[in-house]
Amino acid sequence: MLPQEIIRQKRDGGRLAAADITDFVRGLTDGRVTEGQAAAFAMAVYFQGLEMEERVALTRAMTQSGTVMEWRSQNLPGPILDKHSTGGVGDKVSLLLAPLVAACGGFVPMLSGRGLGHTGGTFDKMESIPGYVVQPDLERLRQVVREVGCAVIGATSDLAPADRRLYSIRDVTATVESIDLITASILSKKLAAGLDGLVMDVKFGSGAFMAKYDDAQALARSIASVARGAGLPTVSLLTDMNEVLGTTAGNAVEVAECVAILKGEAPEARLWDVTRELTAELVLLGKLATDLDEARAKVDRALADGSAADRFSRMVTALGGPADFLERSDTYLAAAPVVRDIHAAEAGTVTAVDTRAVGIAVVALGGGRTRPQDGVDHRVGFTGIVGLGDQVDPAGRPLARVHAATEADADAAVAALRQAFTLGAGPATRGPTVTERIL
Ligand code: URA
Repeated sequence: MLPQEIIRQKRDGGRLAAADITDFVRGLTDGRVTEGQAAAFAMAVYFQGLEMEERVALTRAMTQSGTVMEWRSQNLPGPILDKHSTGGVGDKVSLLLAPLVAACGGFVPMLSGRGLGHTGGTFDKMESIPGYVVQPDLERLRQVVREVGCAVIGATSDLAPADRRLYSIRDVTATVESIDLITASILSKKLAAGLDGLVMDVKFGSGAFMAKYDDAQALARSIASVARGAGLPTVSLLTDMNEVLGTTAGNAVEVAECVAILKGEAPEARLWDVTRELTAELVLLGKLATDLDEARAKVDRALADGSAADRFSRMVTALGGPADFLERSDTYLAAAPVVRDIHAAEAGTVTAVDTRAVGIAVVALGGGRTRPQDGVDHRVGFTGIVGLGDQVDPAGRPLARVHAATEADADAAVAALRQAFTLGAGPATRGPTVTERIL
């Protein structure tokens, strides 16, 4: 069927045959489908939606549009596993989860994204490690995964190129927010990575891409059923993003927080909740434990006995970073020239956090980007960020500490953070960090 006929059928609420979806996606990859047609298709799907079989067909076709990695020939003694997050502020879970899963016997080829909008990207965080090759070719990725058990790298253009084209068009045509299209976009990249199991961290709350709980839940359900339809065992967890995850937001500062945790410093409770549950789900999905309790115990052990730290260190070295990065990360991670505590104007208890505003403040410091082609300043961000229920005082505990490139940037960050935190007299209500598990 011609692309315009496929668009017409969807526009009028019809159901597309798998063969037509496949043909349209081929056209996206080889250029037969124009940018205008891709935009019109995305808008038709946005309004009319896709039925389950159509979603599976779109996901499969986008997966097949480029290289599909196969790991069987590598004879790895464990399952291929990965996690995907819908994005958050201070979300550094990947840096901990990948070496933890590797230490538990899994293999993690983690293809991460750059930060865009108010959410940070794992790609940018790893880039703050000097010498670390964030975009190795697929052969080196295979080698590092085989030898170390994990490789956290940037997404490669070889995997799901049709999604790359469609996503860039959706980004500028107000069609990103379609659960059907998001599902196919995320899963096509994960299926192309040749996984045996996937865990999804679907976030809700003030710092999430899907702020409303019902939307996040609908996305988690959609991903679970399409993944099942496409043959990829997947578990989705709904997790709270109503405050920053951990105590830092930025790039080098988040790497430093993770290094400290791997070396034995107690993690912030919510960060560990999310990391532990997601990692345990993967350990279970990969049949490396018989139930969740055993999986959690394995994860705890991998952190406590230093085996996850060892995997992280070996991964950094294998990808070109310093061999003693873990021991001397403070000398390798670039520091910002201006460091200042941000005190609240008055004393009180933190009762609400506009987490999105904290993410935007990181972008304003230069730690994130407003256009895909922009670079980031890895040095900047916030440390010591308070959470719900914490007491702050102009003469005591600050809201956070800013790391900025200039005094003017620090001034702007002080104003932004004072706005982002609501203070009150009473205790703050903090719900559970992981609220739901969707199969
Ligand atoms: N992340 C993706 O990879 N794709 C989307 O469509 C939205 C978020």
